[in-house]
Amino acid sequence: IFENVPGAPADVIFALTAAYKADTDPKKVNLGVGAYRTEEGKPWVLPVVHKADHIMVDDENLDHEYLPILGLENFRKASAKLILGENSKAIAEGRVGSAQCISGTGAVYAGAHFLSKHYPFKGAACYISKPTWANHRAIFEGVGIPVLEYPYWNPETKGLDLKGMLGAMEAAPSGSIFLLHPCAHNPTGVDPTPDQWKQIADVMEARGHFTFFDTAYQGFASGSLDKDAYSVRYFVERGFEMFIAQSFSKNFGLYSERAGNLTIVAKTPEIKNTIESQIAKAQRAVISNPPAYGSRVVSLVLNDETLYKEWEENLSSMANRIIAMRQALFDELVALGTPGTWNHIVDQIGMFSFTGLSTPQVKVLKEKYHCYLTDNGRISMAGLNTKNVKYFAAAVDDVVRN
Ligand code: LMR
Repeated sequence: IFENVPGAPADVIFALTAAYKADTDPKKVNLGVGAYRTEEGKPWVLPVVHKADHIMVDDENLDHEYLPILGLENFRKASAKLILGENSKAIAEGRVGSAQCISGTGAVYAGAHFLSKHYPFKGAACYISKPTWANHRAIFEGVGIPVLEYPYWNPETKGLDLKGMLGAMEAAPSGSIFLLHPCAHNPTGVDPTPDQWKQIADVMEARGHFTFFDTAYQGFASGSLDKDAYSVRYFVERGFEMFIAQSFSKNFGLYSERAGNLTIVAKTPEIKNTIESQIAKAQRAVISNPPAYGSRVVSLVLNDETLYKEWEENLSSMANRIIAMRQALFDELVALGTPGTWNHIVDQIGMFSFTGLSTPQVKVLKEKYHCYLTDNGRISMAGLNTKNVKYFAAAVDDVVRN
């Protein structure tokens, strides 16, 4: 029956992890997947998560019953508050809804699926940044929404192509969907400034586009959870209706637990209820109801003042180690006199650096030096540590010179 089915290509990021694992060279370096690593190159269970794990094990009232279709209520509310702010007017007005989803991917999917069924501008495309996280295209195309790109990265300045981005927003048919990264843009590590966000919001408003934020790195960009939510809160203040996909994989280190949320900012409480009802109907048919463990951990921490403070400290220790590695890589490249400018490595923020290395250079890094990074030159900074940064810098120096 299935002899004519063509095989699908492997996922680039997960294929990189597999290739790294299979590599037996002791010098190998994993700069592929965006997952935090310690100075020893090991995954990190955040101490606050470890604490929450123990609280849960000792809780005799916890059971393994189904969660509601839209997930754990305290988790959903706390997630919305985390991104929209303690004093969010939209929350007070009762027009903020949410759905617990299978991490960020599931949240983008839930929102995209809803739009594919109920977005009134039929045939509207979703515009994604060029470049973006590869799954964005796959998710929107998967639900039948055409995907187009807006310029984002300027290879000459190694910064934001604001002119190109605004131009694409102006030119897009009114009512298009724009997928925006609120902070720590993946893969470039380049974010708009508050003034640039204002210009983006002006065009989005004038053209009547729909805003779909996807945030996986709140807490990794500015060192403050509130500052990292600036763009989202600014758009909400200006009255935009929007979807916000949130992942807790990175900022809680809960990668495998798939804890995520779709926050919905609607025009009225009634519309919010309708959207939630449709998402619940769709979610029932796909996952029935979301998994409990990760959302319980997040909910415990977000709803407890002491644990929350500890979480902030854990987050800054991750962010600070990454910043230190940016500096170390930059210093090594400068010391080697590697041709080109490398300031962007320290200027970019979040988990990634978009190095500007070309696909053929990446190939040599992989094959000759056992350094694994995505073909577009993105490196996950967390894969660097004081023991391998010199080795990686020397490898980069070699590929750039030859
Ligand atoms: C990444 O970009 O490396 C992460 O978001 C992991 C993933 O799911 O692709």
